Amino acid sequence: MKSFHIITFGCQMNEHDSERMSGILQSQGLVPAATVDDAEMVILNTCSIREKAEQKFYSELGRLAHLKGRDGKRITIAVAGCIAQQEGKKLLSRTPSVDLVIGPSDIARLSDMVAQQKDGGRPVVETGGDPEYHHKPVPVARTDGLKAWVSIMYGCDNFCTYCVVPYLRGRERSRLPRDIVAEIQGLADRGYREITFLGQNVNSYGKGLESACSFPALLRLAQEVDGIERIRFVTSHPRDLSEGLISAIRDLPKVCESIHLPVQSGSDRVLASMNRRYTSDEYRDKVQRLRNVVPSVSLTTDIIVGFPGEGDEDFAMTLQILQDVQFDTIFAFKYSKRPNTRALDLPKHVPEKVKEERLEQVFSLQKDITLLKNRRHVGTLQEVLVEGESRKGGTLTGRTRGNMAVNFAGTRHLKGSLVKVRITAAGPNSLSGELCE
Ligand code: 5AD
Ligand code: SF4
Repeated sequence: MKSFHIITFGCQMNEHDSERMSGILQSQGLVPAATVDDAEMVILNTCSIREKAEQKFYSELGRLAHLKGRDGKRITIAVAGCIAQQEGKKLLSRTPSVDLVIGPSDIARLSDMVAQQKDGGRPVVETGGDPEYHHKPVPVARTDGLKAWVSIMYGCDNFCTYCVVPYLRGRERSRLPRDIVAEIQGLADRGYREITFLGQNVNSYGKGLESACSFPALLRLAQEVDGIERIRFVTSHPRDLSEGLISAIRDLPKVCESIHLPVQSGSDRVLASMNRRYTSDEYRDKVQRLRNVVPSVSLTTDIIVGFPGEGDEDFAMTLQILQDVQFDTIFAFKYSKRPNTRALDLPKHVPEKVKEERLEQVFSLQKDITLLKNRRHVGTLQEVLVEGESRKGGTLTGRTRGNMAVNFAGTRHLKGSLVKVRITAAGPNSLSGELCE
């Protein structure tokens, strides 16, 4: 086998896992293929956060299975990620064309598995999870050159009642600060300018480490790495948003004033039933505290509509919190039943049609808020990290510290530098401006 192609579903964690699998395979001499048709092995890196993500995977798998064997084509099909972990061996009986099943915490074994499968020809399944995975060095094939994801922890201990992640990604494990800093240093040496720390709940980073290191302390270590200009992080649990983190965002110049803080619902009853362990007022207070200390902070969130038992009044409170907090952007989803989760057994599941109507209302309210917030940037001077030419061509594109996309005229050699841009117009998804310098 010489070439491979990876199709990634789901979150940044998965995107980053795909970079790792690519790194491992390339270090074994395999080459990435641009399309499925050019590849001898196809990896589907899957997501199971909602039913829709699962369906997308199964239809892609069906397409691949159909391709396999046609015109004598011999492709190896590997399934990785969260569905691999969830289904394990069952995937083989469901779809006999699957050759490899590999869980997220077994990635370090990928090259052995490929070798084993090649020799025996029999399918190989590895979903047991390596307890030392978070300390293992794994080569990462990044392609961006400027911005990089850096995992700081794996798993999640929160057990929100709707969420499948703790069952699939296991308990929280933190990487060692020195491993993380060495990785960032290596990135800086290769010209990377921005890092995004990844974890299901970055604010509780450091739990269980032998020598204590909190998340703000890790940010301070990253701040010291020359060459790195910007530091971001996802995701933060509101309950764990500490004063220490708020001060770190204020005090550390490289840490961007931008935070993703999923609220999920505006109703205390629903929040309790979700096991979120904060009330809507506690959430509002945290946001107020954050905005008092870091006035320019940009704030995004996740919303679930139609959680079991969510009545009209509960939903009205979700609209209210969107109105009160005025998020810059939101991600909103219809509640989706997930295997093994506690919410499955809750009474009063909400009909699909009601969920759809509620989702529409959320989007329509937020659309106006987002546009209004974007327009407030007009006339301001923003620091922008230039990412290169815009997709449509003709202009440069980059991001503000608040993570808003900005298009402006300029020459290509500015790629990778921090420039000042005066914002002249705002649309629903991006800003435009003029270079000042
Ligand atoms: N149904 C709908 N949305 C979900 N999320 C997580 N689990 C579910 C589910 N079962 C959403 C949450 C989370 C985001 C990553 O996905 O809003 O913050
Ligand atoms: Fe990421 Fe969760 Fe989807 Fe797994 S289930 S890929 S952790 S969003």
